[in-house]
Amino acid sequence: MKIAVLVSGQGSNLQALIDANLSGQIVGVISNKANAYALQRAQTAGIQTAVIEHKDYPSRESFDEVMHQQLLDWEIDLVVLAGFMRILSSSFVQKWHGKMLNIHPSLLPAYKGMHTHQRVLNSGDVYHGCTVHYVTAELDAGPALVQCVLNVQVHDNTDTLAQRVHQLEHFAYPQVVEWICTGTIQHLDNGSVVYRKQLLHKPIQFSQL
Ligand code: GAR
Repeated sequence: MKIAVLVSGQGSNLQALIDANLSGQIVGVISNKANAYALQRAQTAGIQTAVIEHKDYPSRESFDEVMHQQLLDWEIDLVVLAGFMRILSSSFVQKWHGKMLNIHPSLLPAYKGMHTHQRVLNSGDVYHGCTVHYVTAELDAGPALVQCVLNVQVHDNTDTLAQRVHQLEHFAYPQVVEWICTGTIQHLDNGSVVYRKQLLHKPIQFSQL
């Protein structure tokens, strides 16, 4: 399976995927920011990179089309969003239906969008974590595959939560990608998900409580 990872920033999730020695091959990394540290991680690992800056394109659709062409050039089977901070057009999402994953720093459907750690603290929530899900046109709403849960501690702040959620992400994302590479997780045309030959009705949950 040929994998592309899309990034915008630090790329610690990209690093976890690189370090996991997946059954699939990460053949390319695309960043919408030229200064993303993730690009250096890719280059160090000998993975080709492409910088496609959204600010160089007049519309979301034209930016997405250039990314789509790059993914086709690399003959990609699976697109992995890893801290990619752009909303994708519905036509792009449709083209990669069932072949694109995202990781989000909350227990979806709670806290879609940005600033999840702050919002968890503001609400006084006891639980927090991350979700790996297939990407659909609606933001942060596609079928969830895995959730990792942690217990929010009294001394937690946004920095400690970000760090603790990252730890969970670095476990969850390589696991899900490997399951897809090996066929343990399959996406059906009707949008449902099969895990170990059974329909997946709710995300597989790991907890660090
Ligand atoms: C991760 O926490 C990821 O869940 C989040 O950005 C961070 C990227 O970290 N993604 C989103 O918020 C997407 N909506 P990284 O660059 O170190 O992998």
